[in-house]
Amino acid sequence: MTGNTSELTTLQQQARTRHEIEAAITTMFAAEDEGLRSALELAKQAGLPQIQISPIQGKFLQLLATMCNAHKILEIGALAGYSGIWLARALPPGGRLISLEVNPEHANVVRNSFARAGVGDRAEVRVGKALDLLPQLESEAPFDLVFIDADKPPYPQYLEWALRLSRPGSIIVADNCIRSGKAFREPEDEAMAGIVEFNRRIASDPRLVSLALAMDDDYTDGFAIAVVKQIILRNG
Ligand code: SAH
Ligand code: DHB
Ligand code: MG
Repeated sequence: MTGNTSELTTLQQQARTRHEIEAAITTMFAAEDEGLRSALELAKQAGLPQIQISPIQGKFLQLLATMCNAHKILEIGALAGYSGIWLARALPPGGRLISLEVNPEHANVVRNSFARAGVGDRAEVRVGKALDLLPQLESEAPFDLVFIDADKPPYPQYLEWALRLSRPGSIIVADNCIRSGKAFREPEDEAMAGIVEFNRRIASDPRLVSLALAMDDDYTDGFAIAVVKQIILRNG
């Protein structure tokens, strides 16, 4: 293999094209600023796993939050605050992001990252298991947008909570809902079982209009997205 374009197989050319498209979209529409880069740097220094969403996904979250005029956003799974920064930046003055994180060391990084990115006034991280913290959020609901990106086995329960804490018009988004197609097949482990069941529910719940969209990892992974219907039509 010489690396000569003429010797690349069709599959290799298609992979290269996908890669170039992703890079071009990132540069044109989803460039990271100092705050986002700093969050990644702090995460690296603290030895956190590099499993944050992509810049395109971050920009997409921002787009969705702006589309629904979000004032209150809930995130489940903060890691180092990277996705939280994209979301918090879509908030108007007085808006609020609450991000749930089970790992206190991650939460410390998040607080630093939020402060450095200039969103510390509107974004907060709460430490604990999401399923323990979610019941306490009922008095702060409804949320305009809920982003699910924590541990995978309880994804179906996170969907139930997202519905309970939302209103007609709210947007629900979850990461890792494609997983190279594993998210639509018979699950091989507990994590995939959670995602497969989540997809089944979000796709068929009569209260929701939903879609899974490939946009990450060379278009092999991505979000499932739903909006809570204003009116539930019998056949729509
Ligand atoms: N949304 C982040 C990535 C999240 S990674 C971003 O894109 O920037 C998943 C995070 O969920 C990890 O930080 C992990 O500690 C956290 N997590 C795992 N199980 C959890 C639980 N039960 N409750 C809350 N957070 C959890
Ligand atoms: C993992 C978790 C994520 O949320 C993700 O986007 C990628 C990987 C993981 O636990 O391995
Ligand atoms: Mg994820």
